[in-house]
Amino acid sequence: MNTHLNKYFDNACTSFPKPTEVAEYMVNHLKEGGSYGRAAYTRIINSTRVVEETRDLIGELIGVKKVSNIAFDYNATSAINKIINGFNFKHKKVLVSPLEHNAVMRPLYALGLGIQTLPHDNDGFIRVDELDPSLLRNIDLVIVNHVSNVNGVIQPIASIKEAIKDLPLLVDASQSIGKVNFLANEWNIDYAAFTGHKGLLGPTGTGGFYVKEPCSLTWTVSGGTGSNSDSFQMPTFMPDRFQAGTPNITGIYGLLAAIKYKPDNSWGRKVFLSVIKDLSENEKLKVLCANNPKNQSDVFSLHPKNGDVSGFTHSLFTKFGIEVRSGLHCSPLAHKTLNTFPTGTVRISLSPYHTNKDIRYLHESILNTIEMGSY
Ligand SMILES: Cc1ncc(COP(=O)(O)O)c(C=O)c1O
Repeated sequence: MNTHLNKYFDNACTSFPKPTEVAEYMVNHLKEGGSYGRAAYTRIINSTRVVEETRDLIGELIGVKKVSNIAFDYNATSAINKIINGFNFKHKKVLVSPLEHNAVMRPLYALGLGIQTLPHDNDGFIRVDELDPSLLRNIDLVIVNHVSNVNGVIQPIASIKEAIKDLPLLVDASQSIGKVNFLANEWNIDYAAFTGHKGLLGPTGTGGFYVKEPCSLTWTVSGGTGSNSDSFQMPTFMPDRFQAGTPNITGIYGLLAAIKYKPDNSWGRKVFLSVIKDLSENEKLKVLCANNPKNQSDVFSLHPKNGDVSGFTHSLFTKFGIEVRSGLHCSPLAHKTLNTFPTGTVRISLSPYHTNKDIRYLHESILNTIEMGSY
């Protein structure tokens, strides 16, 4: 067996490997120290500069000109919670995509909101042309998962925002930033949450959100910001309004390195799509992917017809060393939409470090697992 193959296919969960510079930058911060925005001695000035440089680069990546409207947070879940819990729901009704993650669904349920789903195809792709204006009546907020973490469908964010007009749109960009084009200002996005440890190849404990109109959200976490400290009220200006407490500065050093040194894909899209097509034609498997390959990101799922997703995953690992995740991937709504609830799926997700050879090995391993039938 070739030991140089990259058999880690769980990058939608968290990316691995990271660019080597990620660890180096993090170690530099641990060695050199320095908090964020709290004083004017050189050590703090240096670490504050790194945080602000990272914010600038995130702004470039997601198409935001006013980068102070990007707040750092500890992951996408925390960012989404701050947006949903800080939003003023007048009618207590939201419209969501049919492929939402529990990072969105659980906060919505916790608030007891009425939840309706946008019209969609059987792969969960939103049909903007079928959006009846009556569905938008009394809706406070529309929420869309840009890239599904189950079947990899990429949603048409720009057209969705055009169709819902003045209604605010929250985009969960957890699986898209670093992989799929994102133009927050051009698409007129109101809120976008991102994470550092997936497509950006950064460390865990990093992420954040963009807000177009900061005063449209109330802060839900308050505390020290190193600014306006004479007041018991949170500052109204950005990013301090949503950045109480010391940020994950060491993590942000790593995130900066990840963004600076992120490699281009070493694998070919043609090869990847041909594997999905071949597996889709296998009668012992159901493949969950985009109906139109144009809407396919580098994530897809398998559902063995006998339904034993954990047995299949276990076989892939023990017999072929392939690391993938099985189950619901924290997205029961997506599985209800795609008819794989409650069993779930075996999920495959790529990294830019994969090569065509790795993808061919994965393909053969899946075919051999089906052939052996011992799962
Ligand atoms: C679509 C989607 N939203 C939100 C999240 C939560 O991301 P994080 O783990 O960074 O909070 C994930 C991660 O699994 C995801 O796939």
